[in-house]
Amino acid sequence: MKSAEIRQHFLDFFNEKQHQIVPSAPMVVKDDPTLMFTNAGMNQFKEFFLGNKTPKSKRVADTQKCLRVSGKHNDLEEVGIDTYHHTFFEMLGNWSFGDYFKEEAIAWAWEILTERYKIDPSILYVTIFEGDQSEGLERDMEAYNFWKKFVPEDRILLGNKEDNFWEMGDQGPCGPCSEIHVDIRSEEEKQKVSGADLVNQDHPQVVEVWNLVFIEFNRKANGSLEQLPEKHIDTGMGFERLCMVLQDKQSNYDTDVFTPLIREIEALTKTEYGTSIEVDRAIRVIADHVRTVYFSIADGQLPSNTGAGYVIRRILRRAIRYGFTFLGQKEAFIHLLVSTLEKQMGDAFPELKREQKLAFNVIREEENSFLKTLDQGLILLDAILKGTKGKELDGAKAFELYDTYGFPYDLTALIASERGYTVDEEGFKASMEQQKNRSRAAASSKAGDWVVLAQDELEEFVGYDTLETQVKVTRYRKMTTAKEGDFYQLVFNLTPFYPEGGGQVGDKGYLEASNGDIYYILNTKKENNLIIHFTETLPTKLEEGFKAVVD
Ligand code: SER
Repeated sequence: MKSAEIRQHFLDFFNEKQHQIVPSAPMVVKDDPTLMFTNAGMNQFKEFFLGNKTPKSKRVADTQKCLRVSGKHNDLEEVGIDTYHHTFFEMLGNWSFGDYFKEEAIAWAWEILTERYKIDPSILYVTIFEGDQSEGLERDMEAYNFWKKFVPEDRILLGNKEDNFWEMGDQGPCGPCSEIHVDIRSEEEKQKVSGADLVNQDHPQVVEVWNLVFIEFNRKANGSLEQLPEKHIDTGMGFERLCMVLQDKQSNYDTDVFTPLIREIEALTKTEYGTSIEVDRAIRVIADHVRTVYFSIADGQLPSNTGAGYVIRRILRRAIRYGFTFLGQKEAFIHLLVSTLEKQMGDAFPELKREQKLAFNVIREEENSFLKTLDQGLILLDAILKGTKGKELDGAKAFELYDTYGFPYDLTALIASERGYTVDEEGFKASMEQQKNRSRAAASSKAGDWVVLAQDELEEFVGYDTLETQVKVTRYRKMTTAKEGDFYQLVFNLTPFYPEGGGQVGDKGYLEASNGDIYYILNTKKENNLIIHFTETLPTKLEEGFKAVVD
């Protein structure tokens, strides 16, 4: 089965089970301060789980573009080194919002894998949550008993909180989960070591393909678990890994998700995949990273010097550097892969077609400018090495090359060693740590839990007709950032304040209480479909309402 059919098959199956098929959310998150990139299929449904919003359909399924390169879920350093992690990947998922729960989620997962995709059940293992005393959570016997209908008991394994209790981040919806793992090793290897001993042990041929999460709780800002009013299903299947299994390959990179890119990289760089560890890693890194960068640009996030844009720039630079060092590429070539990827995935993701030219130009510019940096860095490094007494390069100097000139440390170390020098790595790390502490202090921020005063789904914007109106506060929370200190975010039942967006600055103004107290609205922004008003202090007598006036 080709990858495009595998994807479609999943959507068709869940459509048969009355799921509405929805598009992937953008990979770049603009309206959630706790998240830079979509790192799981459930991100776009967070508010449904929390009960803050009501979905149109209680069952949905999709393929979600995900990026795991920052925050709680970060796979960047593994990518290219192994054969089954990616920065960008697709997650096939089905969801129930307060509708079906464990029994159906487990039965359907089993049905599609073994009856539709026809995976041999004897290569599958499942895990369930063993419980956790410190959290007051019991072993998930319910899931165990549902699995028992399909899976021999010696293939149902217990997993701890780290593997079998899924959390989106420090806060938010969470719950125990059941994972499905495949063992695609040869018979000979299976005779030697049982697959059960290799589950969750980072073995490249015994990998997790699907995670079924039974969402029941909300992790609060203070770390406690709160029971949610309803129970939900959130599943995520690694599309590229599923393709590996169904196409009978030993590596995600040998599936048709990656082979067109790999053939093109080989042709452009005149190298051959499968001939040396270093060349193979470099080709995998480039094939993986060009997907991330192209999809990110297609979703509106260009490489830049700050925030999400900086993460994307660093990923592209990692690819350029691997090409430069291990494939001997001194000229830009990664942008030439854009058309291969567009041909391959443009039908499933039309944004690739739409932004093909932009991606081509942006990647080419980035490549040229970083290749220039690498050239200049080589000259600087040369001068530093000539001025070095003894045979050890100063760690602070290596850090300066990295920090000020963008010259990567591993390249410094490699070139230094070729010339017979070592680098003071501890000194480099110490300088890096100091720098991190400085930026951590500048960026740290904390969001308190929302205090909901009134459930109000429809938050009307009335500012086109009036600049002054009576409002009620429906929810508020306290925020703390290193830059701005403490302040508050308020949401109203209706509002005359226009939120920041589309290049327009947010409205300012004030709230006037019935006793004449004034609270300034410092800014207005839209986040998660809420219009949020920023104040320095929390108004008293919230229940009485306020006159809201736009400046
Ligand atoms: N949220 C779960 C995960 O990302 C399942 O979708 O693994």
